[in-house]
Amino acid sequence: MLLVESGKENISAPTPRRIIRNTPTEVRIARGFDELLMVYSIRAAVYIAEQDCPFAEEFDGNDLCATQFIALFGDEPAGCLRARFFAGFVKLERLAIRKPYRRSTIAFDLVRFGIDHARRKGFQRIYGHAREGLEPFWARFGGKPIPGREEFVFSDHRYTEMVADFEPLSEAITLADPPMKILRPEGDWDREGILESSAARPARLASSKSVKTGRRLETAA
Ligand SMILES: CC(C)(COP(=O)(O)OP(=O)(O)OC[C@H]1O[C@@H](n2cnc3c(N)ncnc32)[C@H](O)[C@@H]1OP(=O)(O)O)[C@@H](O)C(=O)NCCC(=O)NCCS
Repeated sequence: MLLVESGKENISAPTPRRIIRNTPTEVRIARGFDELLMVYSIRAAVYIAEQDCPFAEEFDGNDLCATQFIALFGDEPAGCLRARFFAGFVKLERLAIRKPYRRSTIAFDLVRFGIDHARRKGFQRIYGHAREGLEPFWARFGGKPIPGREEFVFSDHRYTEMVADFEPLSEAITLADPPMKILRPEGDWDREGILESSAARPARLASSKSVKTGRRLETAA
């Protein structure tokens, strides 16, 4: 929840100094094209416009291979974060908060959400590249520089490799979970998914054709 108070009530467009008290903030997984557009808009504003990052370096070909998180302030996209999954760790990256929404709790809410999601998927190690000066920010989530690794540079900034290790989560998804639970939408494992209701339909015979032929359709008509 944002902390800054405006002193004026009922202002419709939140801007840096006009943050409305009680506006709900939400972090969720970006699932549809509209939410992905929000993510890309935030990154274009923060990295390309603000930090002058070249387009091809910011949109590096990994966006459709990743899980994307979006933070909303009311209906307005305020921040985003991306996660990519490797065998023994998750890489959290591309954290960005639009300028008007900085110095709120949104960056923290996003990172916590990303970490919780990774732990729910069974990961115990989070890895990231902390931009120079932001090591204390990542340390708040348990991040520690990897000993013996040099700082490195990309897209005009210096970075430190950091990892944070977590205890296993008792609610982590494992093979002991029922198949229908594993089938549910990512991150939404605690409520019944649409495929559970699809199970009410009778199963087709394995030998039956799954695609209706033109002839059968003609007969039916
Ligand atoms: C980094 C970012 C996500 C942090 O969000 P935020 O809302 O600004 O977070 P806060 O203002 O609460 O800052 C958190 C801490 O990080 C520090 N910080 C933020 N930006 C910083 C920077 N560029 N250099 C050094 N410290 C920075 C703040 O001073 C604060 O520390 P403090 O609480 O001890 O004062 C946001 O500033 C942003 O989007 N920056 C541009 C994109 C970017 O650099 N992403 C990081 C990739 S590792």
